[in-house]
Amino acid sequence: MTETSTYAPKPEFVAQANVSGMEAYRELYRRAEETPEEFWAEVAEREFDWFEKWSHVFEWNPPFAKWFVGAKTNVAYNCLDRHLKNGRAQKIAILWEGEPGDERKITYQELHSMVCRFANVLKNRGYKSGDRAIIYMPMIPELPVAMLACARLGITHSVVFGGFSAEALKARIKDLGATVVITADGGWRRAKEVKLKAAVDEALLECPDVRDVIVRKRTGSDIPMKDGRDHWWHDLEEGVSSECPAEPVDAEHPLYVLYTSGTTGQPKGILHTTGGYMVQTTATMRWVFDLKENDVYWCSADIGWVTGHSYIVYGPLAAGATTVIYEGAPDTPAFDRWWSIVERHRITILYTSPTAIRALIRQGDEWPNKHDLSSLRLLGSVGEPINPAAWEWYYRVIGKQRCPIVDTWWQTETGSIMIAPLPGAIPTKPGSGTLPLPGVLPQVVDMSGKPVGVDQEGFLVIRRPWPAMIRTIWGDPKRYESQYWGRVPGVYFTGDAARCDADGYYWILGRVDDVMNVSGHRLSTMEVESALVRHPAVAEAAVVGKPHEITGQAVCCFVTLKQGNHDHNALGTELRKWVAHEIGAFARPEEIRFTEALPKTRSGKIMRRLLREIVTTRTVTGDVTTLEDLTVVTRLAAQRDEE
Ligand code: WTA
Repeated sequence: MTETSTYAPKPEFVAQANVSGMEAYRELYRRAEETPEEFWAEVAEREFDWFEKWSHVFEWNPPFAKWFVGAKTNVAYNCLDRHLKNGRAQKIAILWEGEPGDERKITYQELHSMVCRFANVLKNRGYKSGDRAIIYMPMIPELPVAMLACARLGITHSVVFGGFSAEALKARIKDLGATVVITADGGWRRAKEVKLKAAVDEALLECPDVRDVIVRKRTGSDIPMKDGRDHWWHDLEEGVSSECPAEPVDAEHPLYVLYTSGTTGQPKGILHTTGGYMVQTTATMRWVFDLKENDVYWCSADIGWVTGHSYIVYGPLAAGATTVIYEGAPDTPAFDRWWSIVERHRITILYTSPTAIRALIRQGDEWPNKHDLSSLRLLGSVGEPINPAAWEWYYRVIGKQRCPIVDTWWQTETGSIMIAPLPGAIPTKPGSGTLPLPGVLPQVVDMSGKPVGVDQEGFLVIRRPWPAMIRTIWGDPKRYESQYWGRVPGVYFTGDAARCDADGYYWILGRVDDVMNVSGHRLSTMEVESALVRHPAVAEAAVVGKPHEITGQAVCCFVTLKQGNHDHNALGTELRKWVAHEIGAFARPEEIRFTEALPKTRSGKIMRRLLREIVTTRTVTGDVTTLEDLTVVTRLAAQRDEE
């Protein structure tokens, strides 16, 4: 298959699509471009409840945007109460499956009660609008319940992915200034318990501002509870009312902060607010996933990442969809777990990542082929470019050449999908996110902001603010300004390289900064380097992403050691563990390479470009634990630099 193969939408799909045919897409796009305020006001009025109307739709004090200025609303109200009035009370909101095989089907009515009860728990403990909560939970229904309860009261939440370590958790609690942590005893993954409460206990040794830890019982394992600080969720809920009015909050009220890797050692807290985020995530649910009333929609991401926030919780629930949540691993008890879920729950829309697809391909077609996948009607992909081989397999073996594939490009910062094919309108080319969604004005430019030509590589920027966009970096507006709006003057800098072909299709080429993409998770080289140099034996470290067949990139570390006798084998193992402890298991390096010196420029900057070359082209070979002499490379590079 070549890059230019094109798959036109099938007539049957076009006939029933929410946006049907190329003309309809073009018209929608034109209106959003020409009259953005009218366009978004119309979307916002059509579907949502507002306690107070906005005075104007958009305000732009570069680089700070406001949407639906002066309006009052509540995201939890729109995700729950609104559906009780519009005939969805008995519809299943969350269809949940635990890894051990337990199942829960929660209607909108029931979810409303659960959220109200937990909101009352938070209220009874004295939490109110403006407070911040950290949520560190397994993929159980109480995770979205906790998020929605916070949103209901105007408490800003930050969900920390359960795979993050106590260290990472602590940094986030502190940066956010959280006073309450919502967690569970543990969760199930590959039939083992992920011990969450233990990590919370470790993190809280240095977080004196946290007053309460609320613990949901999931695994039932024996855990210590600290008197006065730790409370069981079920105890606090006893006798609590299942009615709790939603707090009307400003459209620009901080809904959540989600930490993501940037180019420094410190993760940055991406702030999303209320009105614009709600409107655009919901609109993109309908456009990109062609969402219909009876769809059973499953996004396999973890709620701890932005994909889970926007497309497991807020987007689907605001749209009144049935959203499927699965707690565990795809290979437990066997490699057909996902396909068994699709078959048993009659999933119609599946949204996953290229990494997961590649891992499943490796296990062979017999696993999906054992199951009836005929309920599927649409497939989605997110997190990294999908390579043609993975696309083809997804299309053929999972979608049986019947389901369109939507390759969705977006970021934690964008809040909602930005570039993706509308499945009943835009012909797809495997590997391309195709065209921008209504209201999104991308461009490929050089460093001065000048557009590059057709098929030329350049920086992907967005020329105009959009409703769901990042509002600032929590506590650091200067960094927000310089990282996103100061790189190329006047436009939003995505950090991705891209090219645009003659049909206007966008091809994402990967990051231009020191951010790796490991299994679709963002990880900064600096973050891993900082973790490594905290180890007493390490003098210096340089980290690069190395191409990897399954995970896209893998973490490869070059390390110089302090004086002393070191057992490289043992230390290699120890450092891998160390990084997992400092950041989280997903950041565990694939390779540790010890070296006498790191290649540096004359000014002393580590030449990562060179190291990337080394790991990509294997100009310098060596196994994990041999000592490498990079001084040769350094000398060569220095010569090259001088020329
Ligand atoms: C990459 C995930 C190519 C990209 C929603 C981006 C993609 C980063 C795609 C954001 C895609 C995401 N095609 N690349 N469809 N989707 N990326 O913040 O480099 O975890 O900048 O958000 O992932 O990752 P993040």
